[in-house]
Amino acid sequence: AHPPRKALSGADTSSFGYATLHSRLPVIVSKVVDDVYRSYHGSKDTDPDKQEKDIEAKQIIEAIGGLRYELQRDKPFRPLKDNLPDVVEWNQALADHYPGSSWYKASWLFSECYLYRRIREAFALTQHWRDYDPFFDQKQSVFKASQKAVVAIAVQLMSPVNQSRDSSETASTKEQQVNQLSSIDVLVSQGPDSKGTREAFFELTQVCLWGNATDLSLLDNPDLAKVEELQRRMMVSGGSGVSSPASSSTPISGSRNASSVSLDKQSSEIQHQDAQGQEQEMSELDKHAEFILQNDTALLWEKVKTMRNGRVDFILDNAGFELYVDLVFADYLIRAGFASEIVFHAKRIPWFVSDVMPFDFQWTLDQLYKPTGNSNTDGSPAFFFNPSKPEEQQALENLGQKWQSYVDRGIWKVTSHDFWTSCYAFYHLPTHNSAQDLFADMSKSDLWIFKGDLNYRKLVYDCQWPTTTPFAEAIGPLGSRADVPSLVSFRTCKADVVVGLKEGVEERVEKVAKNWMVGGEYAVISFKA
Ligand code: F6P
Ligand code: MG
Repeated sequence: AHPPRKALSGADTSSFGYATLHSRLPVIVSKVVDDVYRSYHGSKDTDPDKQEKDIEAKQIIEAIGGLRYELQRDKPFRPLKDNLPDVVEWNQALADHYPGSSWYKASWLFSECYLYRRIREAFALTQHWRDYDPFFDQKQSVFKASQKAVVAIAVQLMSPVNQSRDSSETASTKEQQVNQLSSIDVLVSQGPDSKGTREAFFELTQVCLWGNATDLSLLDNPDLAKVEELQRRMMVSGGSGVSSPASSSTPISGSRNASSVSLDKQSSEIQHQDAQGQEQEMSELDKHAEFILQNDTALLWEKVKTMRNGRVDFILDNAGFELYVDLVFADYLIRAGFASEIVFHAKRIPWFVSDVMPFDFQWTLDQLYKPTGNSNTDGSPAFFFNPSKPEEQQALENLGQKWQSYVDRGIWKVTSHDFWTSCYAFYHLPTHNSAQDLFADMSKSDLWIFKGDLNYRKLVYDCQWPTTTPFAEAIGPLGSRADVPSLVSFRTCKADVVVGLKEGVEERVEKVAKNWMVGGEYAVISFKA
């Protein structure tokens, strides 16, 4: 199944595909070399395998250098040489669809996927570096730089509601119970149809969306202060995680169909916050909603609110802060009773720099609640994050333990499949031979949530669609087959393909932000019923 449109390609020098191949990917590739170089220089002389590892590290560096040369000179693609399970399929695709083709001639999507698979080949051909993730250090330091936002959200989700919030109430049994609950539990405690549950939904979908703005491959040189600044803008004055673009550009005036309200604001019904503050916060949030050019949050809510103990599949994108807010949303779906099972689809190999692998998933939970093994200056155990207040530390640990218990009880499952790191667009998911097990399993789900830009590109086949093409049409078989459940894409725009816009939106946004399609400042939440 192929869409009736031309694929995006680096052959068009005015495209973001060209800019990516020409300027972004060589930097990403060079950083792999730097990482391996640092890693083998940092390894201990006492390591019995040191000599072999050093020899292999040099092999990897040479292979990656060769890859950069091939990319920069637009050399023809060559077959893969390793023995990973997906190698036959890759080489078949190369022979069938790209004979004699090369980086700038092939579709951008293929070239870029092939690049990450070639990076993996360099490691897969060694003994000691087979499972090494050359992007792990970057993922780790950006997560560390996200401390402020991570802590603020954990406190918001896990802190007991302020006891003195209502002087007219005595410490009844009911109130004591309420105090055991975190504020999100208070919001959802009145049932799936309640106002609190609905408002939390609109809030957390926005948090989940904008978490996609801080991915590493777009920040070629992730300046950690910049990451903090991006996330600071995601927080509204003292609020928790919140809907906001990672930008200060002028929004276009669009429809205000996202009635998002911060978690703080919802608990304010309980906490009696002052009305003026609420008003300010609301207008701030409305403004942010205007950066979402297609916003199907309300349609998604219509679906989610009918679900009871359902299954939701997350097709994950990036590790670090984005994964953290995905988990926040997944946690909400469980706590509200909409889902009793969440399946997270991670990547099997390091992919597009920051994508989640199963290891990253468990690592993230560990950093929230497990001591690092080192001690602080006062002798207490050190943790990955070091918030200044004990209650903040406690909130992180409680949240981490809660999430770990979901994993231990099988409520959250982490899985991976070669299909997600193949060269195939998602049009092929229902019919592709080696993805039949994956599709059969995913068909049992009630809702698929696709995160991020690359997943969006793969959903719409990375084509030159007119921006007014309906989303359900652009996703081909996934939009028309009865055995595909409802699906939604949360995506900040970082590639020159966008669909689902109303007439005139493209023209309006073009006027205020020339690079609206690729700058990560605008977004879409696209739903298929
Ligand atoms: O480099 C190509 C690309 O798909 C961009 O369009 C985007 O910047 C990045 O890779 C991946 O983004 P995401 O992590 O949101 O999928
Ligand atoms: Mg990614």
